[in-house]
Amino acid sequence: MCVLPCGFHCCGKGRAVKMINNKQVKKNGHLPYETVHTEVGQDNILRVENVRMYFPVTKGILKRKIADVKAVDGISFAVKRGKTIGIVGESGSGKTTLGNCIMQNLKVTEGRIFFEGTDLTTLSTRDLRKIHKELQMITQNPYASLDPRMKIGDSILEGVRLQGLAGSKKENSELVRTVMETVGLTSSHADRYPHEFSGGQRQRICIARALALQPSFIICDEVVSALDVSIQAQIVNLFVEIQEQMNLSYIFIGHDLSVVRYISDQIAVMYLGKIVEMTDSEELYQHSLHPYTQALISAVPIPNPTRDRARERVLLEGEVPSPIHPPEGCRFCTRCRYADRRCREEEPSLACVGNNHYVACHKAVSA
Ligand SMILES: Nc1ncnc2c1ncn2[C@@H]1O[C@H](COP(=O)(O)OP(=O)(O)OP(=O)(O)O)[C@@H](O)[C@H]1O
Ligand code: SF4
Ligand SMILES: [Mg+2]
Repeated sequence: MCVLPCGFHCCGKGRAVKMINNKQVKKNGHLPYETVHTEVGQDNILRVENVRMYFPVTKGILKRKIADVKAVDGISFAVKRGKTIGIVGESGSGKTTLGNCIMQNLKVTEGRIFFEGTDLTTLSTRDLRKIHKELQMITQNPYASLDPRMKIGDSILEGVRLQGLAGSKKENSELVRTVMETVGLTSSHADRYPHEFSGGQRQRICIARALALQPSFIICDEVVSALDVSIQAQIVNLFVEIQEQMNLSYIFIGHDLSVVRYISDQIAVMYLGKIVEMTDSEELYQHSLHPYTQALISAVPIPNPTRDRARERVLLEGEVPSPIHPPEGCRFCTRCRYADRRCREEEPSLACVGNNHYVACHKAVSA
């Protein structure tokens, strides 16, 4: 058994893997990801261990609980200092809920979240506030996260003031100037209001607001999804530049695999509250093993029209099932073209198939 760079133990069978067809089904002997022991890797800034977030569904005046929305259902991963993990998946797969669990905006149903070795799930509100200096989240809608009646300069300083870190007037203006310039805005914008900015500029302001606290980790939740493609590229490049300058770590949540691939060192693919595949971003693109990942990748356009027309498209049929009653066995079985009886009866665990590549599929086995 070896310890993977992500800090988790792995079977260590570093062999080439491929998605095999129904006739070739065989059981592999790999250790499931959920049951392996975690290690405090020195360069792991964040470790998420078997996190579950169930929202109760209630009925009647007495609000009797009748079911749970299993938004996040047993997720584990680690992020190295200065690196980025991308999280992709369809709408409703639990990406934002996972981000909110890490921020402790939601109290997890089960599991532990270690940031710089401290278990966030056990912290008091006061201690969490200190952690939020280091751990920031930027959300999808920059307009909603900015107070329309507050000048941009004051918005940028809001978090700093909340943390009790505001300095003199001169020091504050200097801080605002520095972070605004870092994100490509001029400090003369500081006296303006949010409605005077474009969508891309507002997203830059949100980034400046997060940077003002000099965090070491930022969760970026769909931060470019609402922007034009050209602006998306500018903002993603800005994230990359800031990361290099400040040795920041990111969780980069997104729908668009091509954008997430560009910024991420590692990618986790989520489906119905679970990670179904996780590996280095190039490995995921070149050797995806899970049928769901393959469908997501096949939907990404290739800039070369001839190659784009020639390749096989894997169409995903049907809707994502309800997280209240996820399918028995493999959660993807209702939409998977390879599904068979075993898939419908037995849930596959996220297992290492070598090369820091984890997949939850009965048919993704060593060649
Ligand atoms: N407060 C809540 N109460 C009940 N259910 C919730 C709550 N928040 C989220 N959910 C449910 O949890 C599931 C995951 O939602 P989440 O917003 O995390 O998905 P997502 O992957 O971020 O989707 P999107 O890509 O659309 O942002 C959904 O089925 C959603 O309806
Ligand atoms: S249904 Fe699930 S386990 Fe079966 S082949 Fe598809 S993804 Fe793999
Ligand atoms: Mg979301």
